[in-house]
Amino acid sequence: MGPNLSGPWWQTGVIYQIYPRSFQDTNGDGVGDLAGITTRLDYLNDGTPGSLGVDAIWLSPFYPSPMADFGYDVADYLGVDPLFGTLADFDALVHAAHARGIRVVVDLVPNHTSDRHPWFVESRSSRDNPKRHWYVWADPKADGSPPNNWLSEFRRVGRAWTLDAATGQYYLHSFLPQQPDLNWWDPEVREAMDGVLRFWLDRGVDGFRIDVAHRMAHDPELRDNPLIEAGEDGPRGDEDWPEVHAILRRFRQTLEAYGDRMMMGETYLPDPARMVRYYGEAVDELHLAQNFVFLQQPWRAAAMRAAVDQFESLLPAGAWPDYFLNNHDHSRVVSRYDEGGNGLARARMAAIMLLTLRGTPLLYQGEELGLADVPIPPERAYDIAGRDPERTPMPWDRSATPGAGFTTGEPWLPLGAHAARVNMAAQHDDPASMLSLYRRLIWYRKSSAALLLGSYRPLDSAPDGVFAYLREADSERLLVALNFTNRPIEVDAGGVAASGHLELSTDSDRLTWEVGPSPLPLGPNEGVIVRLS
Ligand code: GLC
Ligand code: CA
Repeated sequence: MGPNLSGPWWQTGVIYQIYPRSFQDTNGDGVGDLAGITTRLDYLNDGTPGSLGVDAIWLSPFYPSPMADFGYDVADYLGVDPLFGTLADFDALVHAAHARGIRVVVDLVPNHTSDRHPWFVESRSSRDNPKRHWYVWADPKADGSPPNNWLSEFRRVGRAWTLDAATGQYYLHSFLPQQPDLNWWDPEVREAMDGVLRFWLDRGVDGFRIDVAHRMAHDPELRDNPLIEAGEDGPRGDEDWPEVHAILRRFRQTLEAYGDRMMMGETYLPDPARMVRYYGEAVDELHLAQNFVFLQQPWRAAAMRAAVDQFESLLPAGAWPDYFLNNHDHSRVVSRYDEGGNGLARARMAAIMLLTLRGTPLLYQGEELGLADVPIPPERAYDIAGRDPERTPMPWDRSATPGAGFTTGEPWLPLGAHAARVNMAAQHDDPASMLSLYRRLIWYRKSSAALLLGSYRPLDSAPDGVFAYLREADSERLLVALNFTNRPIEVDAGGVAASGHLELSTDSDRLTWEVGPSPLPLGPNEGVIVRLS
């Protein structure tokens, strides 16, 4: 009998996030589109180890939108913005992806709509409009100031309330004023969103990534948030409100009727103990609660290990972990951890960690090329929260045009000076490239029961500066050792095995190296996978 490699696709698969604006343009307008994604599916997975090998794509929003927050301000939940194509393009993308065994996950933005959404246009039209209560309206305080002290998640926005002069009330917006929050206490809102879920499920999507899943419910009494700086304590009224769990259970029930679908949520909560609650007490909420731990850790073995161990210990029975290093809201790993030019070496090691921990890895487009943040000159900046540098287009080839295969026109954001060197074509056949490392890791993972579904056991004997762990399933035993320092280190693996075979290293020159007996030498920033015997 061969090893057991089977499990739900969202547990054993690798999920790849696509930011449609910046993936592939097909009509020369400088903005990526859905048809462009379809043309790149073979790169993502053509069924052979020559392709990246990802199992699912998660598409950031492509719905009709004024793009105040680049699509996270949805004006119509049931369509495609002309900038990205048509519903027919979407159907063709899903069809082509499924033909390659690639699942399609779409971004659902239920916390807020665009201020141009017909629901909000109606809601703001008068105090007695039947959709008034679909959003969070409240009277000014006696002095005319906002109803409470809640702040927008975007610092530059300030207060989370904007006064609608015509009707004399404030409306709540957790993000931009152009993103009014829906009132999730309203049963009609819940019903309307069920319809949205079903619309996409009926079109064949395999799941959803729920935008700010922890924000949907709020304190119905609109009480002030505690002033932490002033030593006040207590629950926040604008996020992680208990009622959110009922909403997520309801989403899950809608999904369950469709079989093998998946729901992951953006649960951006600094306290992992609160975050894991989004799996549900009966594991009946999110399949995957997006775990932001790595985005908040310093580059230290002990910090990474502690974050993983804590998450593992907090996970409710039956819940499945996930990890990621990058997304469209945060500085890329190569830049985030760079210290005197070692950003790429560190990112290579982080890739081994990501693809070998117990849980579903989420990748963000360009991560597999080792893309760095691209500095954007102020006159070309768009995003209010400074997130343009991690949203720059994919460099596909070495062509002399500024589009580098992303577009034949002028790219909406510059690709950066590194595109001549850091691009897909330049890396594709280079065994030492970041792309080759990701590809090898992803395909290796597919063949390893220990990595896909095996247990995780951190190695206490690892020296300072090294995060090491065992992944085990049946007779397969793998040791992963990650050197977080800039100096060579020896790992005494004697306690776990006498010898082993080096399967994979960040150092492509070491690929066919037999180790053992211990100790196992690691180069600076080197990460390895060793098969123990
Ligand atoms: C999420 C998205 C982010 C967006 C925000 C508001 O955090 O990832 O890009 O700005 O929600 O929708
Ligand atoms: Ca386009």
